[in-house]
Amino acid sequence: MIIITFGSFDLFHIGHLNILKYCKKILNNSKDKNNKLIVGVSSDNLNKNKKGKLPIINIENRLEIIKNINGVDEVFIEETLEKKLEYCKKYNADILIMGDDHLGEYDFLKKYGLKVIYKPRTKNISTTDIKNKIINNYLSK
Ligand code: CTP
Repeated sequence: MIIITFGSFDLFHIGHLNILKYCKKILNNSKDKNNKLIVGVSSDNLNKNKKGKLPIINIENRLEIIKNINGVDEVFIEETLEKKLEYCKKYNADILIMGDDHLGEYDFLKKYGLKVIYKPRTKNISTTDIKNKIINNYLSK
């Protein structure tokens, strides 16, 4: 079974770790032998265009961090949000897993045979929260 997931994974935090652990748990419970967890890490430019901000941690470092998380087999750079289907096909993914902030967004992939799972987000943490905490607690005094 091949699971694919995507994200920016900037300022790596517990919510990021939890979704990767969740993917690994599903793989571990599968009876398949050819299990793989593939992670698409969004490029600096994609983030700049999508969120209007460059990530704090550059793509080379974000790739290196994700590649070395227990259970991750392969990483690649996600250059554009519009190519989810192409990436899923390229990596022969059976299941796409995303946090439930993306609920419904990737349901169109189901007609191509993919299973799509939206995991409930880890509460009270996000990259945006971390950035805001830094601004509010350290920079505004
Ligand atoms: N994620 C999660 N729980 C969180 C934060 C993220 O499950 N608390 C999941 C997202 O739903 C996504 C993956 O982790 O599937 C990568 O999320 P990303 O967008 O990189 O992280 P965020 O912290 O949500 O970043 P931002 O605040 O910039 O949107």
